[in-house]
Formats: sequence, structure tokens, C-alpha cells
Amino acid sequence: MLNGKKIVLGITGSIAAYKAAYLCRALIKKGAEVQVVMTPAAKEFITPVTLSALTQKPVVSEFFTANDGSWHSHVDLGLWADLMLIAPATAATIGKMANGIADNMLITTYLSMKAPVFVAPAMDLDMFAHPATQHNLEKLRTYGNHIIEPTTGHLASNLEGKGRMEEPDTIVNTIDFFFNSALSKKKILITAGPTCEKIDPVRFIGNFSSGKMGFALAEVCAERGAEVVLIAGPVHLQTRHPNIQRIDVISAEDMYREAMKYFPKMDAAILCAAVADYRPAHYAAYKLKRQPDKPLTLELKPNPDIAASLGQIKTKTQALIGFALETDKEWTNAREKLQRKNLDFIVLNSLNDEGACFQSDTNKVSIIAANGSSETFPLKSKKEVAEDIVTWVL
Ligand code: CTP
Repeated sequence: MLNGKKIVLGITGSIAAYKAAYLCRALIKKGAEVQVVMTPAAKEFITPVTLSALTQKPVVSEFFTANDGSWHSHVDLGLWADLMLIAPATAATIGKMANGIADNMLITTYLSMKAPVFVAPAMDLDMFAHPATQHNLEKLRTYGNHIIEPTTGHLASNLEGKGRMEEPDTIVNTIDFFFNSALSKKKILITAGPTCEKIDPVRFIGNFSSGKMGFALAEVCAERGAEVVLIAGPVHLQTRHPNIQRIDVISAEDMYREAMKYFPKMDAAILCAAVADYRPAHYAAYKLKRQPDKPLTLELKPNPDIAASLGQIKTKTQALIGFALETDKEWTNAREKLQRKNLDFIVLNSLNDEGACFQSDTNKVSIIAANGSSETFPLKSKKEVAEDIVTWVL
């Protein structure tokens, strides 16, 4: 249900605008309060009277009500809303949103919006596939907006490609899910990436972890309404979602300190980082000089085990999920780690599976629960694997 949720519904000039009336009614039926903002072109496709009758509120479309000096405040709308939904969103509106071209009330409202924004594109399939549109959508994603992917139209069902606006019922379900998913407002800590253990000012011991799996998990948890604290080792990745608070660290000790600090306030932690097990016992303040005739011996000392430490302080209401990357005796090792670190679940990847290694965009995992149940998934993109992990753990 969407009881009491305040939704700004932005409608733009696409033929799919006729579906906005149904969308509006479905949102209201679920208990939402809807304020419609239309672009001038949208009015060519559906009349404001239909929408104001449904919402019991005047539709906002122009900056000024009349020439009497009263104007509509996009800033107030931005503060009022719990969510903004732009459906249908034309290529032109998406382009303006991506580039901040505030030439109508809908775009100014979007730019002032403090609440999450959902965008349901609707256009011809060639327009949707064009790199310009895709580039603009990518920009919207980096602003933290949620894109409700269009579908393949009935008429275009024999063609590759999509562009038709997602069905109103599915859009409403997506929004319902966003507000009411089991992860809504839950606090989740995620560790990701490698750690680097300094030898001297220019050298370190590291590993090949790209951080992609942990970042995908952070993205999925945030999309499902969780507030995520992402503790990331040195990686070349960006975080997109506004619900992700990112803390960058370098070494295992830094990661340990931040994890121990945040974990008591969390509902769950997912430990995806490839933490270095050892660090140089002595850090050289000056660059080590090469001594051609002598071997160099580095003494290493153990790093704290973040997973095991969190396992020790975990309360009954907190869930702890670890990863195990194994090369041999995979299931035995993973089960042993699950117990030793007091985890609730462990996600096992085997280096023997093709496409399941560091740096890859895909992964193949099995999930093992402390109660003994388990499931093995096929090779998928890391985003899909993240979806599976979150769904399974829930
Ligand atoms: N982990 C951690 N802190 C460490 C080492 C590992 O939090 N210092 C976490 C990882 O993020 C992962 C899980 O523990 O979720 C298992 O990591 P792995 O490196 O496979 O375990 P180790 O205990 O280091 O065992 P191994 O002897 O196989 O290296």
C-alpha cells in the first residue's frame, strides 16, 4: 500500500500519456496523494481536466497561474513529495533532465526534487536505442534516479528492441515495492574491493579484487530501500545511489576500524571485500632501495579478521553474510568459514568456474545458510547475482 505517500506525477508529451490517467487512478487506489505536473506537450495527448478530476488537485503545468503575479513553486513541490514519478518520459524530457535544461515546470520540479525520482521512458524503439538517449539515461542513473525499463511493444514484438512504456500496474508495483520492501529503511553495511597494505611510500601488497560484486550489492540494497554504508578499498568504481554512504579506506586495519564503528547500528553486514590477511610488520618511511646482491625478506603480521570480529559482537537481530573464494575443497572450506566466523550465510565462488573470478563482470555462486540449506545459481551478471543474494537472504 501507498497510504499517505505524496507522489508528484510528471507527464510528458508521448502517446503513452493516455495511460497516465490509469496510472494516476492506480496510485490513488493504493492510498497515495498525487500531484500532477504536465509539460505543455503532454496536454496535446491528455487533458488536465481528466487528471485534476482524478487527483482532486489542479494540475500544475505553467510557471504562473495567470498574469496576476502568483506562481507555482517547484521548490515547495520538491519538499512536499515522498517520490517523483515521470511517466511517460519522452526522449526530449530525459535529455533535458540529464542536462539540467529547466525550460518547463516539470524540469524545474525535477531539479528541486528532494525525494527519489523514478523515470518510465516511452518512445519509439530506435529513439530509445540511440546512443544519445542511452547516454542521457546513464546520466540519470548516476544522479541516483531509478529507470523503469520500457518493454517491447506488441507491434514490435517481432523486432529486437524496446521503447514502450512499462504497464501502469507494473510501475505502481515497482513503487509499492520501493516503499514496502523488506529492506525499506534497513541499515546494511557492505565491505568491498581489495585492501592495500603499504610496504613503503610507493609500494604495497594488494590483490586483484575489482569491488564490482560489493558495489553491485550496495546498489541492489539501496534500490530496495535500504540505507547502505559501503566501506570500499581502493577501486575505480563510482557509487550512484543517494542511499549509499561511501567510506573509502586503504588498508585492512582502516576497514576493520570503520566496520567495527558502524556495525552496532546496522541490521546486517555483507562482507564482500578481499581483505589482505597479512600486512608488512614494518612500514619503511623511506622508499626501500634496491640491493642487487641481496634477497629482500618482508616480515608479515596478521591483519584483524573483520568477519570474525563482527561475528563475535553480532546480536540476535543482526545478520552477517560472508563470501568465500575458494580454489579447492570449496564446500568444506566455505562451511568451515561459516561456522568459524559465526556467519548466517556464506556466498561461495570457486575460482575453478569460468567467468567467476576477480575483475570479471559475471559471477557464479552458491549460497549456504547456517541452517544447512543451500542453493547454486548459474553464471550471471554481478548485478543479477546481487539480486539473487539479496532475495535469497531475505
Ligand atoms: N574477511 C574479513 N577480514 C579478513 C579476511 C576475510 O572480513 N581479514 C572476510 C571476507 O570479506 C569474506 C570472508 O571473510 O567475507 C572469507 O574471506 P576469505 O579470505 O575467504 O577467508 P580467510 O579467513 O582469509 O580464509 P583463507 O585462509 O581461505 O584466506
